[in-house]
Amino acid sequence: IPVDTFDLVIFGGTGDLARRKILPGLYRRFVAGQMPEDARIIGAARSDLDDAGFRDMVGDAIAEFMPGQSKTDKTVKQFLSRLHYTAIDARGEAGWSNLAKLVRKDVVSAFYFSVGPGLFGDLASRLQKHGIAQENARIVVEKPFGRDLASAKELNGALAASFEEHQIYRIDHYLGKETVQNLMAVRFANVLFEPLWNAQYIDHVQITVAETVGVGGRGGYYDKSGAMRDMVQNHLMQLLCLTAMEPPARFEPDAVRDEKLKVIRALDPVEADDIVRGQYVADENGPSYVEDAENQDSLTESYIAMKVKLSNWRWNGTPFYLRTGKRLKARMSEIVVHFKETPHSIFDEDAGSHANVLSIRLQPDEGIDLRVTIKEPGPGGMRLVDVPLDMTFADALGPEAEDIPDAYERLIMDVIRGNQTLFMRGDEVEAAWAWTDPIIAAWKARGDRPKPYEPGTTGPEDALMMMHREHRRWREIK
Ligand code: BG6
Repeated sequence: IPVDTFDLVIFGGTGDLARRKILPGLYRRFVAGQMPEDARIIGAARSDLDDAGFRDMVGDAIAEFMPGQSKTDKTVKQFLSRLHYTAIDARGEAGWSNLAKLVRKDVVSAFYFSVGPGLFGDLASRLQKHGIAQENARIVVEKPFGRDLASAKELNGALAASFEEHQIYRIDHYLGKETVQNLMAVRFANVLFEPLWNAQYIDHVQITVAETVGVGGRGGYYDKSGAMRDMVQNHLMQLLCLTAMEPPARFEPDAVRDEKLKVIRALDPVEADDIVRGQYVADENGPSYVEDAENQDSLTESYIAMKVKLSNWRWNGTPFYLRTGKRLKARMSEIVVHFKETPHSIFDEDAGSHANVLSIRLQPDEGIDLRVTIKEPGPGGMRLVDVPLDMTFADALGPEAEDIPDAYERLIMDVIRGNQTLFMRGDEVEAAWAWTDPIIAAWKARGDRPKPYEPGTTGPEDALMMMHREHRRWREIK
């Protein structure tokens, strides 16, 4: 479905995120026919480029990040002709009057701040001062949205001085992933799951975001963040919220975000025993974390596993286990709901006992799989066996599923449509930091040292022990 015509300004238009995600994403939407004829994309950054120079750079980025594409292709050229560029000084006045001339007043305008948070306030205020942002303009900001509650409040304040909350789109790209939205469809468009979606029937939930990459190349940023700030406070927290929230009255921005906020506010503080932090060591495939971070004394975690509890009626007694790490065995993100066993088994003990498991796989191989227990076929008497009710999207939906849009493409189109449902509200981000801050402060106070782990494994031994202690097991990372 085409969207209304627009001018999209990308501050930091020559930067890494723009080249890797935003511009290739827009190109895919263009190819899909979703970009109106006269929609324009305007790069704005410090570099002294002209339209031709910017088009050339974006052509190279498309060729680099989208296999099979070349900047001499007809479609790529057509896309590039929609691009414009203006050099701009975010902290000074240079370039702003030029931008004011470029941005049309009678179409949707969106401003993507693909820059460090230190520039958010400057960009927001100059957009207003130069009369560039009309009433309905939208701004898009990226993580990290602060590094603690105080800095997040400051950023929210700096944006609020120039824009209304309904104009501010805080991106968490995990919310743009296909399966994350499918989690909501599964929960709220079926009658089967919701009656069981509580502590009475669910034993525990596991949320895993495992990566094989290390932090090489972004060590400077990462070493000041660690897995807690880089992944848990935002991506894993959002997955937890969507899994744990009450049904919103409507699938609308504030209805959904109100419910997510309630989940964050119901989180208990996490005890030291319920957290395992890890740091990868070197192996034949790559350097250690401290070498990647260029900080031999670093106490930053590249892995974290934690048990999280919610104090509310729905979840009292059902823990959520979160884990994420770099240089692990496989790239795998999933949310897995482990149901309880039946209250009483009518079968002999040697039939075996089983529990239902619903896994929602974000990547790779997006899909949903429900393990149900049936009788093992054959004459061997009543023996129970788990079989999958499998809905791997590629199998179930055919070619349509092969063209699943990347998270960024979807989210940028939502900005143009003016739909904030999959974006974080200011109070949500602050509540997440309010929960995260004391955990990080406690590590600092104790001088907590992350446990070393071998790359290519599932993380530190202690994380396995943490689960054993609870008579549970982590899902395999594969
Ligand atoms: C980013 C983090 O937000 O998400 C990175 O800063 C991480 O450290 C990335 O690698 C993971 O995203 P995805 O979409 O590849 O799972």
